Amino acid sequence: MATREGASATKAVAPACVPVHIGVIMDGNGRWATARNLPRFEGHRRGVEALRRCVRAAREMGIRYLTIYSFSSENWSRPAQEVSELMGLLKRFVRHDLAELHGHNVRVRIIGERTSLPKEIVLLLDEAENLTRDNTGLTLNVAFNYGSRQEIASAAAKLAAEVAAGRLKPEDVTIERISAHLDTAGIPDPELIVRTSGEQRLSNFLLWQAAYSEFVFLPIHWPDFDQAALQGAIDEFARRERRFGGVTAQVGSARS
Ligand code: IPE
Ligand code: IPE
Ligand code: MG
Repeated sequence: MATREGASATKAVAPACVPVHIGVIMDGNGRWATARNLPRFEGHRRGVEALRRCVRAAREMGIRYLTIYSFSSENWSRPAQEVSELMGLLKRFVRHDLAELHGHNVRVRIIGERTSLPKEIVLLLDEAENLTRDNTGLTLNVAFNYGSRQEIASAAAKLAAEVAAGRLKPEDVTIERISAHLDTAGIPDPELIVRTSGEQRLSNFLLWQAAYSEFVFLPIHWPDFDQAALQGAIDEFARRERRFGGVTAQVGSARS
């Protein structure tokens, strides 16, 4: 990193340009497999290997929060066999990788609706969170059975209940309170959201939190994702000008 810091300010990814929080929509497993005449499951299996590479790269780059979209509320509409294969891969991932993640000081957090999931999955997710609760390295947020509209609706319902009980006034329903009732409470909004497979949509991922995120859409499918792809997305992010509704710095403007 020392050589990067010394490089030209416009090209290098200086530490300040490395996002604190990156969201990743891991897409294209099925197409990766189909293009190789393999079953979709093989794409998902290879996708887990790409996830390991992604987590390792994020740790090594000093990213504080990585949120990965692993199963959406809408993914239940897939064929039963694929759903069950995806559940199997999640279970295997937690069982095989939890100790290593813990060993690397990774804190695992799960976002998404948990109560309707099979009991054995709920227990595994709870175990991953409990074991790593006090870790201080990368926070890996796993979006599982996650849908952002559902998350926002649920936050609204909780606040409505507070108002109905007289504990809050309607005007107390603020941006901060809504944020604090989302699954991502306490986690800064992602500065960067990366989606693989060339699709350019959010598919119900972090809708509220992405208000001012930068988006990088990569043409590769998720099983081909690696450290270089993550670095490329961060380099692209570093070239973006984030304005948050303000104005551009006057450097190089018509007046100068
Ligand atoms: C992403 O790959 C994995 C999940 C959504 C669980 P897909 O399975 O969506 O792959 P494509 O988009 O069909 O290629
Ligand atoms: C989004 O991908 C969900 C995950 C990556 C887990 P999908 O493949 O489900 O999204 P759509 O259907 O193409 O929008
Ligand atoms: Mg897809």
